[in-house]
Amino acid sequence: MKSGPSAKPVKGRRGFRLEHVAGFFVAAALVFFLYSVYQASTGSSGGAGAAAGALGSLRTRNLIHLTGQASGSSASSASSASPCPAAEVVHDTKTVTVTKLVYGSTVQNHRAYHVVTTAAGFSNHWQARIHYYWYKKQRDACLREAVCDMGGFTRLLHSGKADDLMDEIPTVVVDPLPPSVSKNTTYIVLNRPYAFIEWINRISIPEKYFVMCETDHLFMRPMPNLMNGDSQGAALFSYIVPWNYPAVVRKFIGNVSDEEVHRVPQIGNSPTFVSVEEFRALAPIWYNTTIDIYEDKEAHDAWNWVLEMYAYSLATYRAGQHVNMKVHPNMLAHPPFDKEEVDFEGRPFYLLHLTYPCRFDKDGNMTDNSTLAAYTFDKRDYSVKPPARNLPEPPPFVQNNLVRLIVAMVNEATENIPCWDDYVATSKVTKCNQHKHGQDGVASSR
Ligand SMILES: *[C@@H]1O[C@H](CO)[C@@H](O)[C@H](O)[C@H]1NC(C)=O
Ligand SMILES: *[C@@H]1O[C@H](CO)[C@@H](O)[C@H](O)[C@H]1NC(C)=O
Ligand SMILES: *[C@@H]1O[C@H](CO)[C@@H](O)[C@H](O)[C@H]1NC(C)=O
Ligand SMILES: *[C@@H]1O[C@H](CO)[C@@H](O)[C@H](O)[C@H]1NC(C)=O
Ligand SMILES: *[C@@H]1O[C@H](CO)[C@@H](O)[C@H](O)[C@H]1NC(C)=O
Repeated sequence: MKSGPSAKPVKGRRGFRLEHVAGFFVAAALVFFLYSVYQASTGSSGGAGAAAGALGSLRTRNLIHLTGQASGSSASSASSASPCPAAEVVHDTKTVTVTKLVYGSTVQNHRAYHVVTTAAGFSNHWQARIHYYWYKKQRDACLREAVCDMGGFTRLLHSGKADDLMDEIPTVVVDPLPPSVSKNTTYIVLNRPYAFIEWINRISIPEKYFVMCETDHLFMRPMPNLMNGDSQGAALFSYIVPWNYPAVVRKFIGNVSDEEVHRVPQIGNSPTFVSVEEFRALAPIWYNTTIDIYEDKEAHDAWNWVLEMYAYSLATYRAGQHVNMKVHPNMLAHPPFDKEEVDFEGRPFYLLHLTYPCRFDKDGNMTDNSTLAAYTFDKRDYSVKPPARNLPEPPPFVQNNLVRLIVAMVNEATENIPCWDDYVATSKVTKCNQHKHGQDGVASSR
């Protein structure tokens, strides 16, 4: 916030008039916003409509509870403090139906970015619901700020088949790797680049930029566009260290100097911000580089389970897109190794990565040994059934605020997504009469 106007004392009459003028603008902005929401909901006009038209039957419809969550969750669960204080609560409850959020964003902002989250398989099914809940909540908070870069959302479902989340989450379905490529399923690392290529070749989005995400990244707060101008902005992965493998790296980028090897970025493909334009050039190189690495025994052995990440990093170098790239230590938090909502320099984290097992012994030390574990949160425990509502909070000996935040965020989402108990029982999304307790049906309208 700029401090200008309010810092100076203003003379009586002039101040009075300024307030009126300001009031007028706020009212005008509100009217304009409601009008654009109404337009979006009725549909036909504008670029959003055109883009959606190309998709025909894949068009989806969403309910956005602009302020809805506030009434239910704050009243019914005063004890479980809201994990993200940044998400402001507005008391006037109103439900607005916005269609085609996937393709049309209400953000009139050229820095706006689209969120594209890849998904396939069961674990991604329940994680996508929680991921999308937090995207929506933080985007609603974002829209109440002076500037909001968060645009539309797409779940990129690369199983080739629509599923039962189509009405809940804006989704584009693309084919999985063709059998001719995935002969013996060994090319599984090609799934993601292939899905993105399918998507970029078929779909247009109104935003100039997008961020590639995964379902286990949860939005902790409204996230600004973290690009460096039109160049990529990516999360730092400190365990991707290309210069520890200079000989291997040179196989893919040529016989360059040590200094150049150090310019290969410490990133993976997600979360990464990229412009649609850069990505069109990058995607085929990413795909090819992945194959190259996969088929090179030395590289394959060296990078193994993070082969995909090296492939993306090396592809950006091969495409010359590493040059002005910005790599952010505070874009993605990695609990239990990160413990606080800010990084080591006090900058806020934006996304919470649910990937690592959070396992602590009775002294509160992290441990890998499950026999010694006195407390564990591991998403892998939910690969057959989704997590139930009200997961227990970590006991006091777990001195890690981000592990607490994971549990609080999962619990808040499962509390607010309708019919979660049925979902846990059947793994199917159902319409039901069961509601979150203490709630009068706001959540049931879907
Ligand atoms: C994968 O399948 C192809 C063709 O069927 C075969 O040549 C290749 O050896 C197989 N690779 C592995 C690792 O099994
Ligand atoms: C790589 O470059 C260095 C320095 O320019 C040179 O000494 C070396 O012979 C080159 N190696 C290969 C395999 O071309
Ligand atoms: C990918 O590699 C194949 C085989 O080397 C090549 O034919 C193709 O042109 C490459 N595509 C791109 C976009 O580099
Ligand atoms: C485990 O925690 C205790 C108590 O905080 C501490 O004294 C001890 O050094 C820790 N052990 C390890 C291996 O970190
Ligand atoms: C785990 O801890 C138990 C109990 O101290 C010990 O017997 C076992 O060897 C440990 N396992 C590993 C893999 O370290």
